[in-house]
Amino acid sequence: MNKLNVYLSNLAVWTAKLHNIHWNVTGGAFVQVHEFTEKLYDETFEQYDAVAEVQKMRKEMPLVKLSDFLAHATLKEVDAKDFSIDEALSLVESDMKEMAALAKEIRDEADEKGDFQVVGMFEEYLAAYAKNLWFLRAMLTK
Ligand SMILES: [Fe+2]
Repeated sequence: MNKLNVYLSNLAVWTAKLHNIHWNVTGGAFVQVHEFTEKLYDETFEQYDAVAEVQKMRKEMPLVKLSDFLAHATLKEVDAKDFSIDEALSLVESDMKEMAALAKEIRDEADEKGDFQVVGMFEEYLAAYAKNLWFLRAMLTK
């Protein structure tokens, strides 16, 4: 499976997973984590459309089925439960590190091919991940 479709599959899984955390986080920082995850799922949903559209521009077929997304995603779903603030932030952090690593691979491979549009898109995503990973580290600091 090409990496853009793996990334797209991860975005589909992650968007649903971020809603799970957004709804089910509990604790003193509920409002901050609730709002932070909302900002993140708005971004993943925007990326979801942009990544599929860049595939169409390259005459590739983006995956469209939830069953295919689940089969090709590397991010793992989690069951609904009450998440503590630390559990919620740690889940988001580990998924974001995985997304950033895949985004870096896609960026570098596109760079080798001289595909500046994909390079530009994924550099923007990587900049956002770097900032959000800093926020997460700061929030998780005891
Ligand atoms: Fe909401």
